[in-house]
Amino acid sequence: MKIRESGMPDRDVWEKFFDLREILTRMGLDAKVCDVVEVGCGYGTFTIPVAKVISGQIHAYDIDEEMIRITKCEAGKAKLNNVNAILRDITAEGTGLPDESVDYVMLFNILHLETPELLLKEAIRILKKGGKVGIIHWNYDPSTPRGPSMEIRPKSEDCLKWAENAGFSGGVRCDLKPYHYGIVLIKGEVVG
Ligand SMILES: C[S@@+](CC[C@H](N)C(=O)[O-])C[C@H]1O[C@@H](n2cnc3c(N)ncnc32)[C@H](O)[C@@H]1O
Repeated sequence: MKIRESGMPDRDVWEKFFDLREILTRMGLDAKVCDVVEVGCGYGTFTIPVAKVISGQIHAYDIDEEMIRITKCEAGKAKLNNVNAILRDITAEGTGLPDESVDYVMLFNILHLETPELLLKEAIRILKKGGKVGIIHWNYDPSTPRGPSMEIRPKSEDCLKWAENAGFSGGVRCDLKPYHYGIVLIKGEVVG
C-alpha cells in the first residue's frame, strides 16, 4: 500500500529543496560505502548522485511505476550500470534481499508512514554488522514549503527512538539546511 502523504510535487520543484552534495557528505555516502538500498526512491533525486559515488550497487525501490521509469531513465542517461530500480511495495513485501547483505539503507523522506519500525526492522535485517541506516526528514516546522502534515511528521527524536527500538545505536543528528534534518545510525555498534 502506498505510504500516506507520499505523493510528490513536480520534479523541478522537489529537487530544489535539497543541497545534494552537502547531504551526501553529511550522511556519509561516499566511495567507502559498497552496496546500498533506498526505500521509496521517487524521481531518483538521491539514487543517481549516490550511484555515482559508491563502490557497489544501489537497489532503489518504489511502489510507483512512473518513479521507477524515471529513475531507470536517469541512470541510463548518466551511463550508470550500478542502479537496480525495482517496482515493489516495501511495506507489504519488504526488500526480498538476504539477511546481512548490504552496507547502507537510505530512508529519505519516508518515515512518516504508519509503521516506521517495520522499515527500520527490515533495514537492520538486511544490513551487515557495522552497516548504516541514513534517515532524512523535513524539519518539524509548519513553515517548510512541503512535507507531511504536522500530525504525522516525525521529529528527529521520534526517528532516533524508533531506530534504537529496532536495534540501531550510535545515532548522530545533523541539520541539512534549509528544510531537513539527517540522522545516521549503526547496526551493531557497542555503546560506552
Ligand atoms: C516523499 S517521496 C520521497 C522520495 C525520495 N526518497 C526522495 O527523498 O527524493 C516517497 C516515495 O515513496 C514511494 N512509496 C510510497 N509507498 C511505498 C511503498 N509501500 N513501497 C515502496 N515505495 C513507496 C512513493 O511512490 C514516493 O516515490
